[in-house]
Amino acid sequence: MADKAVVGGYEPLHHANEGRSSISLIFFKFFGVVFLAGALCYLFISNTNAWTMEAKKLSLSLEKQDALNIIRPVMKESIFKEQQQQQQQQLTKDQVCDLSVGEWIPNSAGPAYTNETCNKIPTYLNCLKNGRPDTGYLHWRWKPSGCDSHPIDPLKFLNAMRNKSIAFLGASICHNHVVSLICQLSKVEEALDIFHDSSFQTRTWYYPSYNLTLYVIWAPFLIHYETIDNPGDKSQSELHIHLDILDNKWTSEYNKYDYVVITGGADFYRSTIIYENNQVIGCHHCRPHMKLKHLAADEIYRKALKLSLKFIATAEHKAFIILRTWPPMHYEHGELPDEKFCNRTKPFREDEISGYASDHKMREVEIEECEKAATIGAKNGVRIELLDTYHLSLLRPDGHPGSYGIYNPSDSDKKKEVQYDCVHWCLPGPIDTWAELLVLKMLSSGVAGDSVSA
Ligand SMILES: *[C@@H]1O[C@H](CO)[C@@H](O)[C@H](O)[C@H]1NC(C)=O
Ligand SMILES: *[C@@H]1O[C@H](CO)[C@@H](O)[C@H](O)[C@H]1NC(C)=O
Ligand SMILES: *[C@@H]1O[C@H](CO)[C@@H](O)[C@H](O)[C@H]1NC(C)=O
Ligand SMILES: *[C@@H]1O[C@H](CO)[C@@H](O)[C@H](O)[C@H]1NC(C)=O
Repeated sequence: MADKAVVGGYEPLHHANEGRSSISLIFFKFFGVVFLAGALCYLFISNTNAWTMEAKKLSLSLEKQDALNIIRPVMKESIFKEQQQQQQQQLTKDQVCDLSVGEWIPNSAGPAYTNETCNKIPTYLNCLKNGRPDTGYLHWRWKPSGCDSHPIDPLKFLNAMRNKSIAFLGASICHNHVVSLICQLSKVEEALDIFHDSSFQTRTWYYPSYNLTLYVIWAPFLIHYETIDNPGDKSQSELHIHLDILDNKWTSEYNKYDYVVITGGADFYRSTIIYENNQVIGCHHCRPHMKLKHLAADEIYRKALKLSLKFIATAEHKAFIILRTWPPMHYEHGELPDEKFCNRTKPFREDEISGYASDHKMREVEIEECEKAATIGAKNGVRIELLDTYHLSLLRPDGHPGSYGIYNPSDSDKKKEVQYDCVHWCLPGPIDTWAELLVLKMLSSGVAGDSVSA
């Protein structure tokens, strides 16, 4: 197990009510993201996982100081609220019902599946099996303001998806989302695992009775990246990303996909060296020896999205593209980055949280780039839409595994291994709503925007 070294820094998770009285900056422990993105995947697959090794190496190589260097001021709550309102007004103008605006309401029925009825839940997300004692987080339902959402009707969905293929591009949260969908469909049919790469990161599932294929393609940056090992010191391996080259893991077989769910995530906060035109142009979360121009994560993400969406919008092959928005995380408490954790057992109220400013910025980039690409796509007969899960997820600090990413974390001999996962989502859990909304969007294909009838 890696030491509790801090890989990345982060600006504070901003609680609206606390922020007013004290601007107490808290730091996000990025080692959690990097380590968990890799290491928990490793637990999931019980197999050698190159990404884990990278993550461990990276996580060991950075100093706490790095975390402190890139703290940015929190976003003012008022600005956040204003932007929310503007976005809502924008959305309601041309849509019958915006699924991303609503509230979490108590739901005594509980989730559509459990750890007993779905056997696809990886250990690191299996909070029930790992002994998480509270179960309140399972009893909430997302209620969009202008309409209702329903549990997935697996039969209806599978019938509608006959002979189709859906590709999910992204990293571990993308897997998290797909497994949630597979679990919710399992009442009607089990997905067959028909392909996986050696690290179980890129996978294919198939529904034989429906001839439906789900591709999960490991493309954490959407653009091309390489891991460069340092033979002298393995902990100093570097991640190099190319802003002008797409990741051919997804472009090479793009013609096969009817639906493409495109996502970004915390990998964009990792320490990276950035290339354009095969020249180094800077770094993000720069290590001291790099001596390069610092590039912000949102600049890098914007370029990655722009390039990906341009490819998609102008492609001859016309898929239905769904950009699932940025996944917020919920590290809090503690003084130092590596002391942070998440242990809430209830959703936030609307006025209690405004989130990390950097997460918020990433979602803004998505909204802007998606809108531009949708206009270009429309001219070419390519439909590109946003699945905005950001805000509803932000309200659910109680949905992460926390310390329950491993079996019985409170066993005395395990205490040292406990890493808090406040990034991924327990299954079952709030991420099931992402799958519900995705299904609604896909089934409403004929209708503009997010529209579903009330
Ligand atoms: C499911 O979780 C319960 C605890 O909630 C546990 O007792 C049971 O063994 C788990 N079952 C499986 C198949 O993981
Ligand atoms: C499955 O779907 C693909 C793509 O539409 C199609 O080419 C193929 O013939 C279908 N196979 C079966 C067995 O229906
Ligand atoms: C699926 O593909 C098969 C084989 O090509 C075809 O017979 C069937 O009509 C298709 N079904 C739908 C709903 O497209
Ligand atoms: C979470 O941890 C904090 C700090 O240890 C503690 O004060 C709080 O009561 C805990 N919350 C829950 C719901 O256990």
